[in-house]
Amino acid sequence: MESSLWLLLVLIATLAIIHIIQAQDQEGFISLDCGLPGNELSPYIETNTKLNFSSDGTFIESGKTAKIQEDRLQKPYKTIRYFPDGIRNCYNLNVQMGRKYLIRASFIYGNYDGSDSTFVFDLYLGPNLWATIDSGTWVDGSIREDILHIPTSNLLQICLVKTGDTTPLISALELRPMGNDSYITKSGSLKLHERYYLSKYSSDIYDRIWESYFKTEWSQISTDLDVVNSNKYDPPKDVLKNAATPTNASEPLTMEWIPIKPDDQYCYYAHFAEIQDLQANETREFNVLWNGVQQSGPFIPRMRIIDTISSMSPQICSGGKCIFQLIRTNRSTLPPLLNALEVYTAVQFPTSETDESDVGAIKNIAATYALNRISWQGDPCVPQQFRWDGLNCNNTDMSMPPRITTLNLSSSGLTGTIAAAIRNLAQLETMDLSNNNLTGGL
Ligand SMILES: *[C@@H]1O[C@H](CO)[C@@H](O)[C@H](O)[C@H]1NC(C)=O
Ligand SMILES: *[C@@H]1O[C@H](CO)[C@@H](O)[C@H](O)[C@H]1NC(C)=O
Ligand SMILES: *[C@@H]1O[C@H](CO)[C@@H](O)[C@H](O)[C@H]1NC(C)=O
Ligand SMILES: *[C@@H]1O[C@H](CO)[C@@H](O)[C@H](O)[C@H]1NC(C)=O
Ligand SMILES: *[C@@H]1O[C@H](CO)[C@@H](O)[C@H](O)[C@H]1NC(C)=O
Ligand SMILES: *[C@@H]1O[C@H](CO)[C@@H](O)[C@H](O)[C@H]1NC(C)=O
Ligand SMILES: *[C@@H]1O[C@H](CO)[C@@H](O)[C@H](O)[C@H]1NC(C)=O
Ligand SMILES: *[C@@H]1O[C@H](CO)[C@@H](O)[C@H](O)[C@H]1NC(C)=O
Repeated sequence: MESSLWLLLVLIATLAIIHIIQAQDQEGFISLDCGLPGNELSPYIETNTKLNFSSDGTFIESGKTAKIQEDRLQKPYKTIRYFPDGIRNCYNLNVQMGRKYLIRASFIYGNYDGSDSTFVFDLYLGPNLWATIDSGTWVDGSIREDILHIPTSNLLQICLVKTGDTTPLISALELRPMGNDSYITKSGSLKLHERYYLSKYSSDIYDRIWESYFKTEWSQISTDLDVVNSNKYDPPKDVLKNAATPTNASEPLTMEWIPIKPDDQYCYYAHFAEIQDLQANETREFNVLWNGVQQSGPFIPRMRIIDTISSMSPQICSGGKCIFQLIRTNRSTLPPLLNALEVYTAVQFPTSETDESDVGAIKNIAATYALNRISWQGDPCVPQQFRWDGLNCNNTDMSMPPRITTLNLSSSGLTGTIAAAIRNLAQLETMDLSNNNLTGGL
């Protein structure tokens, strides 16, 4: 029963590639319509979301573009970029190092090539695997990945990696800078598992997408009055104006799901506000439990003011099931209530990116000689299987930024003077520039 409800939810989530945000401050937002030819109108304001989308053409050097013939799609999803050549193809995005971002990638196949194909490929954030995009999990030919991530340098590389015969593709890529003090983890990033709210769509300053969710054993309560939504998380007011309570007031309010991998760890953010006018003799008080163990409480929601309760640390789901529960205390006269819940999988990104000055130097060298090697994309050194041709790096310790130690550009048809940027490869031990037509010295 529970798993079929879950499936239904995911179905709704992926079918509705619709999000509505208010005309708002989009400062720092990056909204790329992948595959939109640069000569078409770009940037443009998407009519439903009012988001300012641009062509992705200046953020990636490879790939081909295609159109999808499906009227129901919003404009950003009507074109795609696909990657028949090379193993790893990467977007280069300028971000603010140390700032938390919501990063969203959307994929719609739309049978653009007329072959009704299935797909499996990988998505990387810099040198680390973010997600496997598998059409086996697609519903209606689309999928979306959301992650909260803090870039470790000012350049963020998002790569699509071939893992078999299928050609990777992407429809849209979006980055939203977040408040610094929300969704704090000791280490690692947060991959969205689900973000529910217990009725319809709404506007969100960070462009988070909320999915409605409701169970037959719940009752909905609502208010037309203003609910104060400002805290570190700022969920939309609409999200807080509705809440679910168990219809049987003696029962707990329970959300359950099966972990995708048995050892997945979850972080939750539960948003509460009392939205019912309580009588003097009424109390709503409850505890928060994870798989039967009390995590926080007793807690009394404030009248029309948000409070957010989060997991103190990532939680595992023992017994193959994750169970988030609100249970009323003995003195409570009312059942528990829940306005919205966000659930993320905690992910660790163990591999350090290559030293930023080495990355700058090697990119500069590539630009100087107009080197257009298909493998010269993404991080130059890591992961090791995608290391750029002609380089060697020392990356014995995954937690340390690798350094470029060898540069071999022999017989590469180089002309002109020797690039000054080579001097910036501070850990270079071996260099081979033979069989080119270079002049000058170092
Ligand atoms: C959209 O963003 C571009 C920069 O990416 C900016 O130049 C343009 O003014 C923006 N358009 C609107 C209407 O905000
Ligand atoms: C958030 O963190 C970034 C990077 O540390 C910093 O530049 C920025 O000023 C911070 N923003 C706020 C609102 O604190
Ligand atoms: C409500 O839940 C309680 C406790 O689980 C149970 O004993 C009772 O029968 C339920 N009432 C109804 C009407 O289902
Ligand atoms: C609260 O008071 C009202 C009347 O003032 C009464 O009808 C109701 O039963 C009381 N509720 C509880 C839980 O005592
Ligand atoms: C609540 O009531 C139950 C049943 O009467 C009792 O077993 C339990 O210890 C009580 N809990 C608290 C926190 O008082
Ligand atoms: C690279 O090599 C140097 C010198 O051998 C060493 O000090 C450094 O720790 C190495 N760096 C990494 C990331 O392994
Ligand atoms: C550089 O690469 C060429 C061709 O792959 C190879 O013949 C040469 O030995 C390499 N140079 C060094 C210093 O390893
Ligand atoms: C190198 O450049 C010189 C002068 O421009 C030219 O004559 C020669 O053919 C070039 N050699 C190669 C291998 O490209």
